[in-house]
Amino acid sequence: MTEEIVASFDYQIEKDDFKIAGSASSHIKKILKQLGLPNPLVRRASIIAYELEINLVIHTVGGAMHLEVHPNCVVISTEDMGPGIEDVDQAMTEGYSTANDTAREMGFGAGMGLPNIRRCSDEFSIRSTFGTGTWIRSEIHVG
Ligand SMILES: Nc1ncnc2c1ncn2[C@@H]1O[C@H](COP(=O)(O)OP(=O)(O)O)[C@@H](O)[C@H]1O
Ligand SMILES: [Mg+2]
Repeated sequence: MTEEIVASFDYQIEKDDFKIAGSASSHIKKILKQLGLPNPLVRRASIIAYELEINLVIHTVGGAMHLEVHPNCVVISTEDMGPGIEDVDQAMTEGYSTANDTAREMGFGAGMGLPNIRRCSDEFSIRSTFGTGTWIRSEIHVG
């Protein structure tokens, strides 16, 4: 990752805010398109940002998402204020979900978000402290 930053944005994501859920990831998609990044990269980044954003809405008390565009990579990261993940390996398993009935009625809770984020990333890391919060970082290489 080069030090130079081409673009940088921060988004606050509120718990249970279904009305605007998806707007931060839509903005990220728009910015990456405007910067002229290749369509396949924009598609992957949009999936990552959308899944991260929805997870903040339905699984956390709230948090923040960050976009950082460098000449050779795009980094999307989140940090939240809890509740944290007790078993990260289990959370990363396809089909595993703790989404509640409200989230499921809205079509969320397939348990594919984190696995898809990892699949779409060139570099992926997740750190969580149960009771405190979760930090996730996804990097996509440019070119
Ligand atoms: N930021 C987060 N904080 C707490 N738990 C999370 C977070 N992101 C994901 N999880 C946990 O990991 C599980 C799997 O996430 P995901 O693969 O996105 O599936 P889904 O969102 O459909 O449940 C969630 O059901 C939840 O238990
Ligand atoms: Mg999810």
